[in-house]
Amino acid sequence: MNMSLTQQKQVYDILSPEALLNPYPLYNQLRLQEPVYFYEPGGFWFLSRYQDVESALLDPRLSSDKAVLYKSQLGNLDINLIKNYIQLTNNWIVDLDPPKHTRMRKLAFSGFTVSALENWRSIIQETTDSLLDKVQHFGGMDIVADLSSQLPSIIIAKIFGVAEEDRLNFTEWGTDIATFWGSPSGIDIEEAARKADIGAMCFTELIKRIMSERRLNRGTDMISLLMTAYEENEMDLDEIPGLCVLILNAGHVTTIDLIPNGVNALLNHPSQLLQLKEKPELINFAIEEMIRFDAPVPVLFRTAASDLIIGNTLIKAGSVVALGTGSANHDPEKFESPEVFDITRNSTEHFGFGKGIHFCLGAVLARMELTICFDTLLKRMPNISFDPDRPAVPKRKSFSFNGFESLDVKF
Ligand code: HEM
Repeated sequence: MNMSLTQQKQVYDILSPEALLNPYPLYNQLRLQEPVYFYEPGGFWFLSRYQDVESALLDPRLSSDKAVLYKSQLGNLDINLIKNYIQLTNNWIVDLDPPKHTRMRKLAFSGFTVSALENWRSIIQETTDSLLDKVQHFGGMDIVADLSSQLPSIIIAKIFGVAEEDRLNFTEWGTDIATFWGSPSGIDIEEAARKADIGAMCFTELIKRIMSERRLNRGTDMISLLMTAYEENEMDLDEIPGLCVLILNAGHVTTIDLIPNGVNALLNHPSQLLQLKEKPELINFAIEEMIRFDAPVPVLFRTAASDLIIGNTLIKAGSVVALGTGSANHDPEKFESPEVFDITRNSTEHFGFGKGIHFCLGAVLARMELTICFDTLLKRMPNISFDPDRPAVPKRKSFSFNGFESLDVKF
């Protein structure tokens, strides 16, 4: 046998269109053959085992600062192309390390008070019902266009006290920002960077405008709560636009995908759908299983702040490391028969909301939204099924987000 052939390293093309469409077979291979894998075309390491991903999520030597990643995404393009984006993400807790992360996250919690939580429940129920009212008589809908692309953004806009016309703008800006943040694949990177930068500038201006209104007229919305918390702690209010844009954005770009992913999983597993309809009390387990089975955020990026060893592999300081949370959620060492969608499984140890200091700040809100949304959907449309004339179109432009462009159903 030709030595050069035997020595050739196998390439696992994790950014290929096929892998973005269905990464699970590749994840299975990687976990067995190269759990700590350097993906040369992307210039980053990829971790696929539950244990390694968990250790990495808890390792302070892996920084959340993504400057290196953003630069490598740009390739030869000038960094100034994303100057507004960089300025904004400087105050994104998801991109920060302690001590700034700890301080800002503590302040961000002031927006998530117990009384706020109770108000959210009725906002979510009313919004879900009004969206379903609009389509009920049609006997069918696109889960993405008619429900998931609207529900989380309407809810988060109400929580922030953002007007309807501004909501329509921020969802577009937010999507552009998230596309670049999510390590885009197969799209024009210069255009993605430009759009993200414009989105960052416009979104920042919007929050600044709302903040100047709230200076005169403080309310109970999240922007008011954050402004009050910042003033009481004598902190710089200039951090608030970055914090708000992150919460607003994280509050809808993820749930947009989880709803169709969950509907898709249920419709592909009729026995599970039937079981949930017969035993609605399983809803909380079902939601966790939806997140484990097909996570909307299947990869999280970190940068090595110093040399470190993962498995038996040396990762040099400055390297970008992709934590395969979606792969970890399918690791048979952790989850029995991980390829089986089982709504009775107690799968709360999935990494769908991350783990450690960056654990999803909005997990309580997300779980409340998803529970109410699926509960209401199945009660109001118990005969829900795929629309055979309109096949679902998966969304696969980004490595870090996993969802659908459209998912048509009949009921
Ligand atoms: C299904 C819905 C959701 C999913 C799957 C999700 C997923 C995640 C994940 C995986 C992280 C960890 C990021 C990391 O470690 O780098 C995260 C962080 C975060 N999430 Fe969520 N999220 C969801 C909904 C929400 C909602 C509704 C909000 C807010 C209203 C929110 C706000 C945040 C924030 C602010 C962070 C950053 C926390 C930090 O860095 O300390 N998320 N989310």
